[in-house]
Amino acid sequence: MPKPFLRSVFACSWLLAGVAVADTPGAAIPVDHAEKIGEGIVAFLPQGMQDYPSSLALARAPVAQGAVPAGWSISPRYEREGSGTRVTVTLPAGVDLYGTGEATGPLRRNGQQITLWNTDNFEYGRDGGKQLYQSHPWVLGVRPDGSAFGVLFDSTWRASLSTGKDIVFSSTGPAMPVIVIDRVSPQAVMEGLAELTGNMPLPPRWALGYQQSRWSYTPDSRVLEVADEFRRRQIPADVIWMDIDYMDGFRVFTFDAKTFPDPSRLNRELHERGFHSVWMIDPGVKFDPGYKVYDSGTAQNVWVKDAHGQDYHGEVWPGPVSYPDFTRPETRQWWSGLYRDFMAKGVDGVWNDMNEPSVFKVPSMTMPDDNWHRGGGELAPGPHLQYHNVYGMLMTRATRDGIQAAHPDRRPFVLTRANFIGGQRYAATWTGDNTSTWAHLKVSIPMSINLGLSGQPFSGPDIGGFSGVATPELWANWIAVGAFYPFSRGHTIKAEQQKEPWAFGPAVEHTAKLAIERRYRLLPYLYTLFRQASLSGLPVMQPVFFADPRDARLRGEEQAFLLGSDLLVVPAWAQQPALPDGIWHKVSLVDGDTVDADQAALKVRGGAILPLGRVVQNTTQESLDPLTLLVSLDQLGQAQGELYEDAGDGYGYRQGDYRLTRYRAQRQGDAVKLSVVGREGSRQLPPREIVVQVVTDDGVYTAQGPEDAVTVPLPPGHS
Ligand code: GLC
Repeated sequence: MPKPFLRSVFACSWLLAGVAVADTPGAAIPVDHAEKIGEGIVAFLPQGMQDYPSSLALARAPVAQGAVPAGWSISPRYEREGSGTRVTVTLPAGVDLYGTGEATGPLRRNGQQITLWNTDNFEYGRDGGKQLYQSHPWVLGVRPDGSAFGVLFDSTWRASLSTGKDIVFSSTGPAMPVIVIDRVSPQAVMEGLAELTGNMPLPPRWALGYQQSRWSYTPDSRVLEVADEFRRRQIPADVIWMDIDYMDGFRVFTFDAKTFPDPSRLNRELHERGFHSVWMIDPGVKFDPGYKVYDSGTAQNVWVKDAHGQDYHGEVWPGPVSYPDFTRPETRQWWSGLYRDFMAKGVDGVWNDMNEPSVFKVPSMTMPDDNWHRGGGELAPGPHLQYHNVYGMLMTRATRDGIQAAHPDRRPFVLTRANFIGGQRYAATWTGDNTSTWAHLKVSIPMSINLGLSGQPFSGPDIGGFSGVATPELWANWIAVGAFYPFSRGHTIKAEQQKEPWAFGPAVEHTAKLAIERRYRLLPYLYTLFRQASLSGLPVMQPVFFADPRDARLRGEEQAFLLGSDLLVVPAWAQQPALPDGIWHKVSLVDGDTVDADQAALKVRGGAILPLGRVVQNTTQESLDPLTLLVSLDQLGQAQGELYEDAGDGYGYRQGDYRLTRYRAQRQGDAVKLSVVGREGSRQLPPREIVVQVVTDDGVYTAQGPEDAVTVPLPPGHS
């Protein structure tokens, strides 16, 4: 039986020493109780908190595992601040900071201040972009020696987070638990964060393909035209997105009778073309007696209340709306149930937008702080100030449950704009309404990396920029890099400009086709990375310094990035990027990619084997016949890599229906020998040929043969 987290006999006297107990503003609040809850993980509870309270950030209740390890160095100091709480964590010298969730500004977060208050922030214009759609009360610190720690402030209340000499978390709420992870490397800290907040569930494979969106493709015939255009031009793509205009007067869970008269047929026709479809659902339900969703919600009393206990009404796309109170288990169940008929129309995935929640025509852009959430189950009733930051997360939890119940044998795909730390358990994310500017192309990289360093591995911005006019040059450069975001989707605002890959003329179309083809060649590697992320919590898109956390030169690099540990992506526009030492071989994945001036340079780590597929037009097509293994040898003439395969959807893999193959390459005289060194899983696959490509400084040497033994000859005396 795990021991519950109870007041411990191990409470650290050194933590309590010298701290006055008082309840006046500014007065210190002692730590009551600190205890180990995992390897290199300690939870601190402030005075008056005996047990770890129920937490929306954590995937499960922490279990006490004994005393704080000797020599523990990172700990919080609490004090009262007005009616809220201020927590200070003093930093050791020379620490570089990361994480802090979705934020504009540099990758390295030292000297930054952000507000944790999910905000509909069009063009990132409000508050200088220091307050965006999601909240991650979390900071990762990397010491000069490459060891690292992370601090999680487990509070949902509105807060500000500043990272100067100290980390200061100023919350409008009561004193909260603080969890510190202290481990040998930033990677190990990220694994610790996943142990606490849970993993991204393995997405369906189609969600890793290129996706095309706009506000909005309408009517339905336009959707099919776009799909056909991808196929005609042989530009790989997997998903078309339906923005709000498919609805009847922006009433969620309805379809416009004129423009989308038969969504089932549309979805069928998309499927026939090898496309999946994702449809938008916002939280605001039109205040419209007689509309089924409004009536059933009202009958079940699901809505958020104002301070006087009346249904609160705000205004969004449909005009006045009511907002489901997702803190109530009954409301979540009701919401989940709405997806049954919706998904039955052949919908593949759901896009939850405006769920900060956004409210038009009020200065705060959201509902009043004193609106009331009734809670239930683990959640106490509380004001909006307490639950605002988890509104989107609770919504996507109910959405995911609903989709899962509608299709128990498929993996749900949900995209959300608002979220909270731990929200990777329910949904992928995109970074909201950016602009078609170079500045936003460039900032998208540190933003997605820091989301990954805050527990969310599945993210990306609107490729090409949401608002404003993209120049052909900008769009070409954006897709050249965007093909490597974990979530790769082009999207744009309702405006004149088309932003599909072919909309900017033949030269940009060619660049886009090459970039997207590169992504599709990399799918076996990407899918293997997503599977690793779903198990370990390691981000898919990683900062360059992950290649060598002790190399101080790499700590600020935010133009180039890593996909997994083995592939370095260096944008064409990167200026003097700081790249890791050691062997990194530049590779070509499709004909012409290395001569196209806008493409990113791709470099494979010495010591790695990358599994690659053929270029296919969508991810459901067989691409591993033959399978290519790209080998980049290390100084000892060795390399290793792995390939994960499964059905691409469903849960058979949990019963062993997958194949994990480990490969090893070894230089032997004037040849490189490739062999299979491990196999896991019971998935039956027909015997297949592999093409082994050994990348060296003076060229690529290739041989083909059966999967378990291929020898690639090198020219005699090759160094
Ligand atoms: C919001 C979303 C955007 C969407 C639009 C219309 O601005 O962020 O992606 O296109 O609403 O639904």
